[in-house]
Amino acid sequence: MADSKIYTASTTAPVNIAVIKYWGKRDTKLNLPTNSSLSVTLSQSDLRTHTSAACSSIFTENRLYLNREPQDVSGARQQACFRELRVLRAALEAADPTLPKLSTYNVHIVSENNFPTAAGLASSAAGFAALVRALADLYCLQNTPTELSRIARQGSGSACRSLFGGYVAWEQGHAADGSDSLAVQVAPASHWPGMRAAILVVSAAKKDVSSTSGMQATVATSGLFRHRAEVVVPARMEAMKAAIQKRNFEAFAELTMADSNQFHAVCLDTLPPIFYLNDVSRAAIRVVEEINRVAGKSIAAYTFDAGPNCVIYYEQENEAAILGVLKPYTSGVSGWGDRRETVHARIPEGFNAALCEPLKEGVSRVILTGVGEGPVKTEESLIGADGLPL
Ligand code: DP6
Repeated sequence: MADSKIYTASTTAPVNIAVIKYWGKRDTKLNLPTNSSLSVTLSQSDLRTHTSAACSSIFTENRLYLNREPQDVSGARQQACFRELRVLRAALEAADPTLPKLSTYNVHIVSENNFPTAAGLASSAAGFAALVRALADLYCLQNTPTELSRIARQGSGSACRSLFGGYVAWEQGHAADGSDSLAVQVAPASHWPGMRAAILVVSAAKKDVSSTSGMQATVATSGLFRHRAEVVVPARMEAMKAAIQKRNFEAFAELTMADSNQFHAVCLDTLPPIFYLNDVSRAAIRVVEEINRVAGKSIAAYTFDAGPNCVIYYEQENEAAILGVLKPYTSGVSGWGDRRETVHARIPEGFNAALCEPLKEGVSRVILTGVGEGPVKTEESLIGADGLPL
């Protein structure tokens, strides 16, 4: 009898925020980068994509739903992920003919984010990592996360880093086929238990220039970019790995801030220039610089992706110093939770509090989070018995 069963698997995957930025491709089809990058995986309690994958001989086409809305699956990125994962499944089926022929079935993917999509919160990273992990589980693939990172990278470059928790490097590789452009874990989340992240959501509007087109414009027009990719990043990757291994926050912070600043500098060096930071972002930079000046050392580190949101890394032991300054200016917005009671406003002596004023109007939400784990398998399916979103 024909197999009409609906096979399903579900996973959740995290967001990652780079501290050494990926910006530039040497191959746009395979998403091969011009430099290595390194990121911190954030806790899924606050930011995650939940994805269920299903396949069945009764499905007539591939489908993808994001936050219940049907999405186009004909894009090269989705197709590359589907194709590569099917190839791995087909190899298993060839080796064991008793296995159901899932590689020949259409798939339905149902995905939900617990945060605003395309608000510059790395939703494509969590989305493609979850898609690849869920399909790999559906197909019972035994491949390691590093092997799967080769596939997730073709969905979205930064997605390859979301297959791991903790601190993750994406080594650029040199092979033309991308076989050595892979993500590896530098250290698990447990390695640095005190590391925290506060996100100041500056605008939840859709961003203007997508990372994909922005970075290609940079590659084509920025001279500064070449120096960054060839000279600056290779040295910073090594220094950042060492800072993480030694849990040296000052070194981590200084590299993080310098790399964010240089990434936005190469955006400005692009023709026409790309502006991701706005006045509120720049105010957040000044506030963090002021926190560090008053502390006499770097106890907080800002970083910005392709948008105006500010991610601030800090250590738990300095939470009062960082959140105490942010609270008076942002406590009216959502995201403080029980920290609204436990964190007390604290503006240190000599601190130039006027720098914080723009945060009052400009920050729409805060996310107080930490470092977290990679994708987690879940029994909670988003797909019903009819193969459609529940
Ligand atoms: C600024 O991974 O979104 O966040 O590969 O074209 O999908 P594509 O780009 P994407 O770029 C992320 C850029 C960044 C830096 C980073 O995450 O390393």
